[in-house]
Amino acid sequence: MTQGVRGTRDFYPEDMRVRNWLFERFREAARSHGFEEYDAPMLEHEDLYTRKQGEEITQQLYCFEDKGGRRVSLRPEMTPSLARMVMAKAGALPTPIKWFSIPQCWRYERTQRGRGREHYQWNVDVWGANGVEADAELLSVLAAFFRSVGLGPEDLVIRISSRKVLEEVLNSVGVSGKAFPAVCVIVDKMGKIPEEAMSAQLAEQGLGADAISKIRSTLGSQDLDALESALGGGSTAVSELIALFSMIEAYGISEWVAFDASVVRGLAYYTGPVFEAHDRAGEMRAIVGGGRYDRLLSALGGKDMPATGFGFGDMVIMELLATKGLVPELPTGNQDIVVSRDEGLRPAAMSVAQRLRASGRAVDLVLEEKRLKWAFRHAERTGAERLVMVMPEEWGEGNVRIKDLGSGEETDVSFDDL
Ligand code: HAM
Repeated sequence: MTQGVRGTRDFYPEDMRVRNWLFERFREAARSHGFEEYDAPMLEHEDLYTRKQGEEITQQLYCFEDKGGRRVSLRPEMTPSLARMVMAKAGALPTPIKWFSIPQCWRYERTQRGRGREHYQWNVDVWGANGVEADAELLSVLAAFFRSVGLGPEDLVIRISSRKVLEEVLNSVGVSGKAFPAVCVIVDKMGKIPEEAMSAQLAEQGLGADAISKIRSTLGSQDLDALESALGGGSTAVSELIALFSMIEAYGISEWVAFDASVVRGLAYYTGPVFEAHDRAGEMRAIVGGGRYDRLLSALGGKDMPATGFGFGDMVIMELLATKGLVPELPTGNQDIVVSRDEGLRPAAMSVAQRLRASGRAVDLVLEEKRLKWAFRHAERTGAERLVMVMPEEWGEGNVRIKDLGSGEETDVSFDDL
């Protein structure tokens, strides 16, 4: 009972400093590309998530009945909430809508390295833009973020494909479009579940052995030329991917990405380009996943609007940064430590602290009787810039003694000049 719930995390102040640092890098990368921050409640109606295509996510809901008898769920992802918000104001919002958020998401998953039952997920989405320009912009946001935390293309790779590849294969073997979302979810498990199990699931969707072998060979393509010959001329999937890759070149971020036809993604709603980033060593789970989902609003009973975006968890990236020695040592943010030499000077120390605070300094006032030596160590430990000492003689002359902890220099400054 006194232990936290399995798969959840506590953030002590030192953890919180790192988390804030990470989130600030997320925010900067999004803002530098013109995205605005939004938020939504962690609790939604359960049926916002109950889709019927066999996705794992819909079986991992933290759902319950509230006291009013409503079925509700903690959000496992942000995209449905975002869709709800966009739908509620559809028409009133100027497009393209470029929004980002950093929600905490909840999934009842098997806990393992890089996967917990709660995680924070940076979401960056563009709504109302049809072309792959929007997808390219998202990839640039990612590259900007990776650069800002010191990672390079030698550390990770963003693999890109398009759901249209699979759609075209299915069309060519005469499988109905209705089966498409469910087939994508199954095909995403390729290599993760036994072949016979996958074939059996695909057979349930009306796919025969020929179709399955065509899917396998097409998704094995590692370059666009091979894909083009697999799909034949005039493929929209190929021409869109070619356009996307030429934009990626224009952005100067080619070294971060690679085409890989096997990227399908496990959520049913994707319709176009999809992508996923992994560490180069291939040891960790996906760092980020996203793609285009142009038909989500009609699935929720609204009018469709083109959309594309990604979700980027806080767990795998922190592991990768730790492996690379890129997690920074962060100071507490305290600038001044104010200490009084004796009990009688406590009120003087209070007014000194207040004066410094009013001037915009972050001040930690020593609250109890402590030796100067303790205050000095405390200042060092918390990474403060200065130790401000209120001492009898100096205070008698209207001064405080300030020790600069960088240079070690001490100077007397009058209270009025603080
Ligand atoms: P997703 O692939 O389910 O996509 O999750 C995106 C990312 O969230 C993953 O790549 C991973 O970094 C992180 N993540 C997911 N589950 C966990 C977990 N249990 N523990 C730790 N991290 C996790 C989506 O959720 C889509 N809604 C993303 C999106 C936004 N697509 C378009 N816009």
